[in-house]
Amino acid sequence: MSERIDLAALPHDFLWGTATSAYQIEGAVAEDGRSPSIWDTFSHTPGKIDGDDHGDVACDHYHRWREDIGLMRQLGTNAYRLSIAWPRVVPGGDGPVNPKGLDFYDELIDGLLAAGITPSVTLYHWDLPQTLQDRGGWPERSTAEHFAAYASVVAERLGDRVSHWATLNEPLCSAWIGHLEGKMAPGLTDLTAAVRASYHLLLGHGLAAQAVRAACAGAQVGIVNNLSTIHAATDRAEDVAAARRMDGHTNRWWLDPVHGRGFPEDMRELYGVELPEREGDLSTIAAPLDWLGLNYYFPATVTDDPTGPVPHARTVRRPGVPRTGMDWEIDASGIEALLLRLTSEYGARKLYVTENGSAYPDVVRPDGTIDDPDRQEYLIEHLAACASAARKGAPLAGYFAWSLLDNFEWAYGYAKRFGLVHVDYRTQTRTIKGSGRRYAEIIRGHRGGARRAA
Ligand code: FCB
Repeated sequence: MSERIDLAALPHDFLWGTATSAYQIEGAVAEDGRSPSIWDTFSHTPGKIDGDDHGDVACDHYHRWREDIGLMRQLGTNAYRLSIAWPRVVPGGDGPVNPKGLDFYDELIDGLLAAGITPSVTLYHWDLPQTLQDRGGWPERSTAEHFAAYASVVAERLGDRVSHWATLNEPLCSAWIGHLEGKMAPGLTDLTAAVRASYHLLLGHGLAAQAVRAACAGAQVGIVNNLSTIHAATDRAEDVAAARRMDGHTNRWWLDPVHGRGFPEDMRELYGVELPEREGDLSTIAAPLDWLGLNYYFPATVTDDPTGPVPHARTVRRPGVPRTGMDWEIDASGIEALLLRLTSEYGARKLYVTENGSAYPDVVRPDGTIDDPDRQEYLIEHLAACASAARKGAPLAGYFAWSLLDNFEWAYGYAKRFGLVHVDYRTQTRTIKGSGRRYAEIIRGHRGGARRAA
């Protein structure tokens, strides 16, 4: 079935990667000087996470990273997207650097490079030091400034070996889910705080991009957004307008400012919150990007919902559309459409799929193996759609499967498994699933083809 992927459409130096993030896999939350992040606080607040799970141990990657690099080698990947935990590196949020925190990532990067795996480093995957939250968090401008200072520290230490940098992962989740819907840390439900957070996250992105470039000549800097294709449930004018609002909330709010178009007027009006703008901010936010990262999981079909929360658009279920174990609709055409949109509408020069994957309730067979046909199918369909976008001109340079390992899936705790590698959380035993073997086979297929073409 992997024949469905037009591998020849992908460049010969394509990055075949897996992705993880610090809080979801590292554990060791109180080791070597790490301070608590907003996710430690949130996950230890009763009732916030399924099963009251938390990331205290997670996949124990902090101690098992060598084994995990071994798994990446077995998969045949040549790239790995990881995030750095700000509270390990600058435990106070600002101020003194914790050398032990940096040492951990230093060794990890060396280990990856020795294994022939290109590291792609994300500076912020949601784990804000709690001490900065106590001082107001992302709704405050100073957080963006502290973020840039921390970015500079990391880039100075790792920039001689890391060239691939992302500032933020999915600022939409930090702002909208964390400050408006309250389902992620810091758990607020406050539109003003959410809009201010969104502004300072993007400002932080721009400032951090400058800081990374100053510290690391040749840095390739990008930002990672989770985008969705948005469809109107009917062709009623109200639903079409709702789809436009949802597109603004999900996609344009995050894409327009970094492309020098400012914050979309229609959405500013809809939110009705004054932006904490200062002169020069918009050009900082629009720092030139070397690449754009797309995290894609599902599309959304929406209907007008005038009395519901902003953006007054409610997602509806499309009957008969298959869903993953997250109850997310499966629609691979969305990833292709978004790659093409980023190319034509935003002029992207280089694109990476920085996350894509699926959770299913895996079954471990008596012999310890895990076959996961649904996840394999999801992977293949989406890779086929990526290759199709590349064939149509999207400058796609890599794909990072979410995730290398089963891990702490935020509000869902350990109940949802996205890994190409299964983790037994009792024993920390790792087992490559059928999807991992399939991914390895696809990668081999591409390399074989690329060799023939060379
Ligand atoms: C994304 C997150 C990532 C993971 C996947 C399933 O929104 O960036 O950490 O949880 O979803």
